Amino acid sequence: MMRGLREKGSAPVTDSIKTAKPEKDYSIYFQPPSYREAKKRGKEDVRVHYDFRIADDLRTIGRGKLYHIQTYGCQMNEHDTETMKGMLEEMGYAWTDHRREADIILLNTCAIRENAEDKVFGELGHLKSLKTEKPDLILGVCGCMSQEEGVVRRILEKHQYVDLIFGTHNIHRLPELLREAMFAKEMVVEVWSKEGDIYENLPKKRAGLKAWVNIMYGCDKFCTYCIVPYTRGKERSRRPEDVIAEVRELARQGYKEITLLGQNVNAYGKDFEDIHYRFGDLMADIQKIDIPRVRFTTSHPRDFDDHLIEVLSRGGNMVEHIHLPVQSGSNEILKRMSRKYTRESYLELVRKLKAAIPGLVLSTDIIVGFPGETEEQFEETLSLVREVEFASAFTFIYSPREGTPAAQMEDNVPLEVKKERLTRLNNLIAELSRKDNEKLHGQTVEVLVEGVSKNNPDYLTGRTRTNKIVHFRGPESLTGELIDVRITEVQTWLFKGEIATLHALEA
Ligand code: 5AD
Ligand code: SF4
Repeated sequence: MMRGLREKGSAPVTDSIKTAKPEKDYSIYFQPPSYREAKKRGKEDVRVHYDFRIADDLRTIGRGKLYHIQTYGCQMNEHDTETMKGMLEEMGYAWTDHRREADIILLNTCAIRENAEDKVFGELGHLKSLKTEKPDLILGVCGCMSQEEGVVRRILEKHQYVDLIFGTHNIHRLPELLREAMFAKEMVVEVWSKEGDIYENLPKKRAGLKAWVNIMYGCDKFCTYCIVPYTRGKERSRRPEDVIAEVRELARQGYKEITLLGQNVNAYGKDFEDIHYRFGDLMADIQKIDIPRVRFTTSHPRDFDDHLIEVLSRGGNMVEHIHLPVQSGSNEILKRMSRKYTRESYLELVRKLKAAIPGLVLSTDIIVGFPGETEEQFEETLSLVREVEFASAFTFIYSPREGTPAAQMEDNVPLEVKKERLTRLNNLIAELSRKDNEKLHGQTVEVLVEGVSKNNPDYLTGRTRTNKIVHFRGPESLTGELIDVRITEVQTWLFKGEIATLHALEA
């Protein structure tokens, strides 16, 4: 049986390819993401499915067996892993930390930069010997890399010991695909180019006191450097009632913090045709739910509207921390990145946010060495960072992604220059972080206790509402509590403190 994948943006591909040795020319099945095709995507066919169930004969198939999932990349991937864990455990499988013991190993991959992909291919190389020792091991590759045709082709050609490849749009098919992979002697590949659907009632295995909640999937922004609109598909929002029901249930279960997830959460609701209900409305409704801390990530400066700012300014469970990726401080670069805002409008948004939300802490994402970035343009990024006073940032060297518009531009900033810019930027961010932290010296802050510090077992570790790390001495039994800690020592990336009062005791 040899059935093909279709190009992105076309009809769903519900068939699998099974192949022991690809003797065919796979270029007819796998093509790099097409900017033109993807941009043509329509909104008409989003369907919400509430009917997921695991077939009876698959409910016990994993009894006595172990699985391991290695997750790369962002929180969206982490959360997808929780869904896959939920499905596998409903099939009887149990988690193991040790890959050598596992009957199933899945690599949930990230495609955002080339080094993320290199790591996965390196890992696949390591796993080859394990697979040779344990031929019954099911080795699967999923996540964003699987949505790239070039990656699938490379695995088919060079890593034929992989048993299963599936993408980001058909995670719910994992139980059935495992069955196929177990009984087929060939590689099972199922990657959907259809991207419009939402699967609601998938099981999830969450851990700890913090929970992620998807509010939307995909991205329609098409920043010129970014692969996400191709690997995660078009923007589609979960229905408000489904999100709110999930958050209520998490509150009932005692979670202390939730993070609302989406590639561009500020675009939430733009795809609803029957109701006018946007991210600000959702936040206003979640504000009424009894869960102490609500975060969201990632927001796009372009869609950050005044209603949302007003809702955030009411405080309560809306924390005083916003992650607001800026990417560059130069208008020319922002334009070529197709970010659709200017340095001035970004700074104006920051001014409004700071005025509305007392004690606001901002963090950001920045790319250095975008094609054609000059020293002056990079310095504009430094000056914007200084002006905003970001407390932290994820900083990246530009990495061309095949099929994106920026990959057609000449990647002409030498690597040495990119590295030097990254170092200068990181030094500035460290300086600003320390400066921001100094403001809290001697103050008492609310900390959500996460448990014993991994780096220093004499201390407990926790986070402030602004997501900063605090170490302090106390009994492990405080894990999961919100307590007041007085800051006694300020460092660049963390605080040390001592317990002031327990919120629980105040009541
Ligand atoms: N090269 C470098 N960094 C990138 N990012 C996205 N695409 C690329 C790329 N091609 C960064 C952006 C984004 C973050 C998640 O990753 O800063 O906000
Ligand atoms: Fe990528 Fe974010 Fe731009 Fe979407 S908004 S294309 S996810 S960088």
